[in-house]
Amino acid sequence: MGSVISGVIAGTGGYLPARSVSNDELAAEKHLDTTDAWIVERTGIRRRHFAADGETASSMGIAACQAALAQAGASVADVDAVIVATATPDSAFPSTAARIQGGLGVTRGFAFDLSAACTGFIYALSVADAMIRTGQARGVLVVGTEVYSRILDWSDRGTCVLFGDGAGAVFVVAEEGSTRGLLSTHLHSDGRHGDILQVDGGAGSTGGTGVVRMAGREVFKHAVTKLAAAVDEALAANGLGHDDVAWLVPHQANIRIIEAMGRKLHLGLDRVVVTVDRHANTSAASIPLALAEATRDGRIKPGDLVLMEAIGGGLTWGAALARF
Ligand code: ACO
Repeated sequence: MGSVISGVIAGTGGYLPARSVSNDELAAEKHLDTTDAWIVERTGIRRRHFAADGETASSMGIAACQAALAQAGASVADVDAVIVATATPDSAFPSTAARIQGGLGVTRGFAFDLSAACTGFIYALSVADAMIRTGQARGVLVVGTEVYSRILDWSDRGTCVLFGDGAGAVFVVAEEGSTRGLLSTHLHSDGRHGDILQVDGGAGSTGGTGVVRMAGREVFKHAVTKLAAAVDEALAANGLGHDDVAWLVPHQANIRIIEAMGRKLHLGLDRVVVTVDRHANTSAASIPLALAEATRDGRIKPGDLVLMEAIGGGLTWGAALARF
């Protein structure tokens, strides 16, 4: 019998557009009736990056993938799949994944997008892990890349202050008999709650405006309970407890939700990777961007158990556990 194959996160990479905008700058530029104090107190957000004209989900994703491959010591010849989670694709087709594949110069394998809003990275990681375990791929780029600045209603102060642009990627490789890698992923959705967090209209719709609409309080309530259940599920599935977790790398939507998850897991903020203050909510890009930061600055070390969780439109939510 051959040894068990697991998907190991061999490299991480991030890309943020050059332009970083503070709360005060945003309020002045968009004529918003808001304050830095309100935004910081309710969300923890102080700044966000916005893509320049001509920057797209694919162009940012390419940069993040190149950084992930470099950290893994891998080349495009090692890539046989590109899976992209995005709610802001360059176009309905070609997929953003195919554009990234082409832009990187990968000439074999396959590429596709998946749609799970802010949970997209966890979903994409789950698909990559399953494909690696079943032998369909040995080197998978898993990408979250978003330009939410193009789908915001700048007259809605309740949503437009929350989001930013950016891309993150991980390179997941097959290893036989490894003690590290993805331990498990746990996916959920409940389409009955689709209306509380949605892009109102889009490529195939007959109405709507194509911008983010959110019932913030409702989303908040679902987030706290559903994320708590997802992290419990991930730990229980592996016979692990909160003491085993070296780092929580949560989706970065709101510091209050992040703090609630830290408390639930008995992890102080010194064991939680936080980027929401500087990145705001970059949707599917937020977890891989946080991973890229914390592996580069030495917080996440080889052997560390990392717990990831996210919730987003759909509703979709989920968790993943990985040993680095
Ligand atoms: N500046 C000043 N006032 C504001 C702003 C703003 N930017 N936005 C809303 N307000 C006002 C509202 O108009 C309202 O005023 P009113 O009482 O006069 O009507 C008041 O603040 C309270 O509004 P609420 O929406 O009830 O404020 P709340 O305390 O719920 O905070 C927030 C809003 C921050 C959006 C919060 O609900 C939240 O964080 N929800 C979770 C959202 C989230 O995390 N979404 C992302 C998860 S999924 C994903 O990543 C896509």
